[in-house]
Amino acid sequence: MMTLVNSQIAKKLGLNKATIGNYIQDAIEGKNSLQTIKVNEKVKLVDSPHNWLELGRLAEVGKKYRPSSAQKSVTVPEKFYTLFDDESQFEIIRDLEIEKQIDLKYYYYKEGAAVWNQAIDSKVSFITLEVEELLRKSLGLICGHFNNHKYNLIDIGCGNGQPADLIIEQKQVASYIACDISPDILQNCKQFIHSKFPNQQIETSHFDFQKVSLETHFKSWTNKNPNLFMFAGNTICNHTKHDRYYLLNSITRAMDKHDLFLITYTLDTDKNKSSLSYVRNMLNYWLPSLLGIDTEKVETEVRYNHETKCKELNILLDKAYVMNFQVQNQDKVIKLDQSEKINLWKHYVFSLNEIIDELKDAGLQLSFSVATNDNVLIGCRLALK
Ligand SMILES: C[S@@+](CC[C@H](N)C(=O)[O-])C[C@H]1O[C@@H](n2cnc3c(N)ncnc32)[C@H](O)[C@@H]1O
Repeated sequence: MMTLVNSQIAKKLGLNKATIGNYIQDAIEGKNSLQTIKVNEKVKLVDSPHNWLELGRLAEVGKKYRPSSAQKSVTVPEKFYTLFDDESQFEIIRDLEIEKQIDLKYYYYKEGAAVWNQAIDSKVSFITLEVEELLRKSLGLICGHFNNHKYNLIDIGCGNGQPADLIIEQKQVASYIACDISPDILQNCKQFIHSKFPNQQIETSHFDFQKVSLETHFKSWTNKNPNLFMFAGNTICNHTKHDRYYLLNSITRAMDKHDLFLITYTLDTDKNKSSLSYVRNMLNYWLPSLLGIDTEKVETEVRYNHETKCKELNILLDKAYVMNFQVQNQDKVIKLDQSEKINLWKHYVFSLNEIIDELKDAGLQLSFSVATNDNVLIGCRLALK
């Protein structure tokens, strides 16, 4: 006789595993009509139409009569409004309510910037190490592209400046422009680069690359030197196809025929698909905590989704939440259900052909590529018309 797996029932009905355990206990005590069977001394639920009907009924009853301890009402604290501007506040609220996600980009503020620094220092992610290796291998090719002349380094999503460090060391960078959404990341980056290269000209540029047109930002800005646009650390892999398309096109439009664009990607190798645990050490839950979610009680799911070719980290809420926000003097209340799945991290993986197609679609032409088994760095210029 076929039996049901608790985690699958939980997923299908939007419940947590503990609730299924309670249903089984109630079935043993005759408090519901679920059909059970003993397999290797364990009581399991029989896979039958009757059980699915009964499970659906129990889940509905649970929703109606959820005790108040299974629901938490939170008033989002002042810190949230001081950290994020109005537009970001709206986006975070809309994302939670509709997309059921907290966009990774907001994670890099405040505590997130400190955790990112630690993660880089302790070399938790092999991506960082491999990107460093790829950059070292491409230094000669970069120099060759600019014919040993000076260029500006425009570092999009600069992190703490580690990848830029390698390039600036070559003494060809006229001006270093660190760009990031997080003011805290920008400060760390500026400090780090300044400590290593006190004479380097450094500028910081604070913007969200998903919203700003890089063309308006940089075309009028640039001095007479050509530009090296860099998008390292496989940050592109955290973005959906729609966002990647916007961003790559935005970079293309900002480029001149003498410029070079460097980008790194995670390849769709078995090692990359199965290496998941590192993200648990790279992300802490400071932002969900700030929003009032009891993060020590949530279940964490880290998995590779074969259909979307995306690694994800989701949290499953242990209770329902009523979140009270005050945005621009207006009350906004959102409700999240118990066992609701909230996505905190996405990381897509790609075949080399998929990467080349996306770059071509954005109007770029491959100049060179350098790869390890699992990651690739691509240098591109504007495609000839
Ligand atoms: C994975 S880290 C990579 C950092 C660095 N490039 C490296 O290779 O070490 C991603 C960086 O991009 C920034 N970032 C993410 N989304 C962004 C956005 N929409 N606009 C601007 N910066 C963003 C983050 O704040 C973070 O510094």
